[in-house]
Amino acid sequence: MANDTLLIKHSGTGKQVEYPLLKSTLGADTVEIRNLYRDLGCFTHDPGFVATASCTSKITYIDGDNGILLYRGYPIEQLAEHCEFTEVAYLLMHGELPNERELLDFDLEISDRAIIHESLRKFFDGFHYDAHPMAMLVGVVGSLSAFYHSEMNIKDPVQRLRAATRMIGKMPTIAAASYRHSVGRPFVYPRMDLNYCENFLNMMFSRSSQNYIDQDHYIDQDFVKALNLLFILHADHEQNASTSTVRLAASTGANPYACVAAGIAALWGPAHGGANEAVLNMLAEIGSVDNVPKYIAKAKDSEDPFRLMGFGHRVYKNFDPRATIIRKTCHEVLSKTQTNDPLFELALAVEEHALKDEYFIEKKLYPNVDFYSGIIYKALGIPVDMFTVMFAIARTSGWVAHWLEMMEEASTPISRPRQLYVGPAQRDLAAIKNR
Ligand code: CMC
Repeated sequence: MANDTLLIKHSGTGKQVEYPLLKSTLGADTVEIRNLYRDLGCFTHDPGFVATASCTSKITYIDGDNGILLYRGYPIEQLAEHCEFTEVAYLLMHGELPNERELLDFDLEISDRAIIHESLRKFFDGFHYDAHPMAMLVGVVGSLSAFYHSEMNIKDPVQRLRAATRMIGKMPTIAAASYRHSVGRPFVYPRMDLNYCENFLNMMFSRSSQNYIDQDHYIDQDFVKALNLLFILHADHEQNASTSTVRLAASTGANPYACVAAGIAALWGPAHGGANEAVLNMLAEIGSVDNVPKYIAKAKDSEDPFRLMGFGHRVYKNFDPRATIIRKTCHEVLSKTQTNDPLFELALAVEEHALKDEYFIEKKLYPNVDFYSGIIYKALGIPVDMFTVMFAIARTSGWVAHWLEMMEEASTPISRPRQLYVGPAQRDLAAIKNR
């Protein structure tokens, strides 16, 4: 695997060592420095893991400079155009696209696992009516481990796959239950005759007096299509903060439900999955097109903590290919729903101003996927505080794919970063009366 090497010289001791450069299929090669401390007595310092590959993976590839995103080698544009979300989930988990039979079986298994235990359903009654749906999601997904105690042998590949499929199946049910609880509506059971996205919409929006799906079994396929697209775009994104959290938790041998719950918690932050909710809140704060220049100026002011939410990305320094795909769908959904939402006009004004602004051009800050996803969710009737939950439903497929990949490795050392200690040197304590 190793061809080239990297020579590192310690200028203090004069000692030098040569480390192998591991070859990637695509993108940057990686220097293997795990023996650095042993060889030279120092660590590497890389806060935020800007230049650190924490693992090897075959799942997702991102070329941030050229706006390329591949799942298992397939361009996101092709997957978005031709696939069902569950097909993509299968691809992420198994490495290959399913054939018709395999997809049928997978879909059946996912639907079969969508139901949640009645006791778990009752958990929701314990939450306050205004609990944030993400708070409920973290708690309830973590609690799944209490329901499958006898099936948590992470060394058993069959049990692992079952746990992974179970989470993909149950996530929409738990997500919809969080919403229903927050608006005081009764829980809607999953239906096996509906596909993944239809089922979710039905569990969200059915009322006892009016089914979301009418008697002719009609469900707005444009809504289903838009949701399917959003789920595909959010399914995986290599070693992002939440996926790295899942991997870090998994490195301890924790059960998969606990690992995914940890991922959900990490996703919640506004710099990550919480950005779609933050975009809508930001647009509400900006209020009108007239205020856009003022807020652009605030975003540029280094003294002001305000940032343009939905702009910028750690990896994409050109454009986010997901944003390009989603922008078009955003227009389609809005024209379909005849929504003359002033927020959309405002979003376009923010986008236009920022894209022309020297600060954003120079720092390569482009709209990311979450700049548009929230607007689509809003048009579909999804409440703002459910946006990150929507992201979590989709990303579960990526989290479990990474967890499965990790569990298949011969050895998975516990993730235990080191630090650059800058605290006080060793000192002796003084008696309390002398301090
Ligand atoms: N508005 C204004 N300035 C920004 C923004 C922004 N949205 N993003 C970055 N900058 C500036 C930042 O102030 C810094 O300036 P300087 O060099 O003068 O200190 C420079 O650009 C680099 O920023 P950074 O925070 O060092 O870049 P990063 O790669 O660590 O952060 C980011 C990436 C996504 C956290 C950041 O761009 C951000 O906070 N964006 C807004 C939140 C957001 O939309 N997050 C969703 C990401 S996409 C969904 C996902 O994959 O999770």
